[in-house]
Amino acid sequence: MTGQMKRDIIILTDPGQDQAAAILMILGAADAFNVKGIVATAGNIDLSFTVNNCLKLLELAERTDIPVYAGSPRPIVRELVTAEHVHGPTGLDGVELREPKTQPAPESGVAFIIDTIRQADAGEITICSLSPLTNLALALVQAPDIAPKIGGIVAMAGAYFEVGNITPTAEFNVYVDPEAADIVLNSGIPITFLPLDVTHQMLSTPERLDTMRAVENHCGPALADMLTYSERFDLNKYGWEGAPLHGPCVPAFMLEPDIFSGRQINVSVERHGQLTLGMTVADWWQITDRPKNVFYVRNGDAERYYQLLLDCLRRLP
Ligand code: BDR
Repeated sequence: MTGQMKRDIIILTDPGQDQAAAILMILGAADAFNVKGIVATAGNIDLSFTVNNCLKLLELAERTDIPVYAGSPRPIVRELVTAEHVHGPTGLDGVELREPKTQPAPESGVAFIIDTIRQADAGEITICSLSPLTNLALALVQAPDIAPKIGGIVAMAGAYFEVGNITPTAEFNVYVDPEAADIVLNSGIPITFLPLDVTHQMLSTPERLDTMRAVENHCGPALADMLTYSERFDLNKYGWEGAPLHGPCVPAFMLEPDIFSGRQINVSVERHGQLTLGMTVADWWQITDRPKNVFYVRNGDAERYYQLLLDCLRRLP
């Protein structure tokens, strides 16, 4: 991790235990990431919870210097769909984290994205999205001038070969706000998708969770407890030896891209289908001449992924 250039990032997130894992991974890689701010998103749970959960996680990691901004309380067009059935009634069940002493920043998440990109040099800021893309899409609609200045978007989003997890054909983050995903996909910004096709290879086996729980600090065991809670739903659903760990694929890809492999292809989102709303139609075999707008990650090395996560966790309090 050392020796690489530090990247300025904005995190879009709706914690969520796997988002907690991603945020802690990012904070553990403090030599690689400079977090300009976190935009809490309505997604896995209502916005009031995701704001609070972001603040709690920053206190856990002793990084309350990072500002948290509240994003939009709902998707652009549709009613909010949440995932308490996976993440629990607070979105971050499985561990008792202290109620935060800090407050969210007064500016809205959308205004923060616009202002930060406008003030930065072109290409300087990368957006790390662990949630529905609502706030980025709203920023792009309100301030189209920011699109060419964004260095890239790395998002946990979509599915093609693994089809869907919230419906038979849709991945949760895209399904919650397909209009937002569509705006982002057509923005011309360089995009990388970490879809279910790769996150379903990253299984939190009992051995991996035991190793995490044995990390000698607060963050490792706390994260292991959170993931033990959230994985019960997926273990039951898939019958695999562990639950997929989605969110940290985003920082892992940025830290060590050679853990992963994929292709530059077209990805379009279904916004009208009766049975396929929110489906990401990935032109993996390049059958159409639609523009290649996404680096679509299909495979990853789970051993190296968990090793990297653990290395980052060990650097935290
Ligand atoms: C995504 O859905 C959410 O419930 C998870 O936290 C992850 O962001 C996976 O489809």
